[in-house]
Amino acid sequence: MFETPTEILIKKTIQEQNGSISFYDFMDTCLTNEHFGYYSTKELSWNHLGDYQTSPEVHPIFGFLWAKQIHECWIKMNQPKKITIIEVGGGSGIFMSSIASWLKKEHPNFFHIINFIIVDVSEKRLEQQQKLLQMYDVHPQIMLIDDFLNKQNTFEGILISNEFYDCLPFHLIKKTQSNLNEIRISNSKENRLFYSEQSLTNKNISNFINKMNLQLFNDCIVEIPLKTYEVITKIASMINKGYIINIDYGDSTSNLLQAWRKDGTYKGITRNMLDDPINNPGEIDITADVNFSILQKGLEENNMAVNPIITQWQCLSNLGIFNMLAEIPEVNLNNSSTYLKNKKAVERLTEPELLGKIKVQVAAKGCPLEELSYFISA
Ligand SMILES: C[S@@+](CC[C@H](N)C(=O)[O-])C[C@H]1O[C@@H](n2cnc3c(N)ncnc32)[C@H](O)[C@@H]1O
Repeated sequence: MFETPTEILIKKTIQEQNGSISFYDFMDTCLTNEHFGYYSTKELSWNHLGDYQTSPEVHPIFGFLWAKQIHECWIKMNQPKKITIIEVGGGSGIFMSSIASWLKKEHPNFFHIINFIIVDVSEKRLEQQQKLLQMYDVHPQIMLIDDFLNKQNTFEGILISNEFYDCLPFHLIKKTQSNLNEIRISNSKENRLFYSEQSLTNKNISNFINKMNLQLFNDCIVEIPLKTYEVITKIASMINKGYIINIDYGDSTSNLLQAWRKDGTYKGITRNMLDDPINNPGEIDITADVNFSILQKGLEENNMAVNPIITQWQCLSNLGIFNMLAEIPEVNLNNSSTYLKNKKAVERLTEPELLGKIKVQVAAKGCPLEELSYFISA
């Protein structure tokens, strides 16, 4: 039987820990172990050649539209003389590259006062992002997530992320008639990983369930995202004045926790197909829908006002995606094939059952939130 290096490592830890590890530890090792983790080691891409395609990779118009919103945010902040723009979990770096190139072209004076920072979990990803950004003549500060979160200083600016929170590790919990159980990962006599279930003993999890007012249904598995809450709380506390823009698959607590959703939302993804997360550890991505109510709580507890979540298709339409399509030089209206290619990309970004269903949440501290263009129907 073929075992990935991550699988061997996980089995060793299971043995050392008397037969099981939490799904949180399993996922964390699979995705971010510095020697074997999915995000730390592999040559990754998020375009059509990767395991799945993200919005910034579909078309640069995605970054151009968010750049337009970022410029408006700066105006709402009363145009400070210096501003920090941070992206967390930037993948290939294409999102920040599109944002920066649009700002440089459309608002060069603004572009020159920006301090760009990119934050990620591995040196390899940061190098990939930095290399791409340098091709656009952008020279960002780069930081590992732990160093960034441990920084004591605050910043004035805008922090943006796309599909970042959905890859932070979580615990799996199942309520039964009489008990709360934890779903953990064990190793069988035949040396195969499997899901095991035992009574929940970790008080941090039961306290978190109470604090977040999560109403669990019998026999339903639910992801409990302690790390997401910890990260958003820290980020929100670091902002002095400015905005946080969260773009991700997910929903509110009330929409996520439903009696019919027996198996939770967690999944493995490889080559554009769903897979069981315990298959090929370290070789596939693991993700779950983001609970935006939990993000909201972390933001509000740190004095941020938070807009209700809206879908990506609403948001891109409000930002003017259909008009911009006709304006950008990449789209040549006299060349039907490039025009159709670009039009198709816009349809992909806004398709309500695909990328269009992604949610957008914006929070503000010390500056107005209500009249931002992304939120107002065009
Ligand atoms: C799904 S990719 C999204 C990439 C990019 N934002 C995009 O839309 O194409 C997730 C990104 O988050 C990073 N990431 C994963 N786990 C992380 C963690 N624990 N801390 C910081 N970044 C992480 C990955 O390295 C990757 O850059």
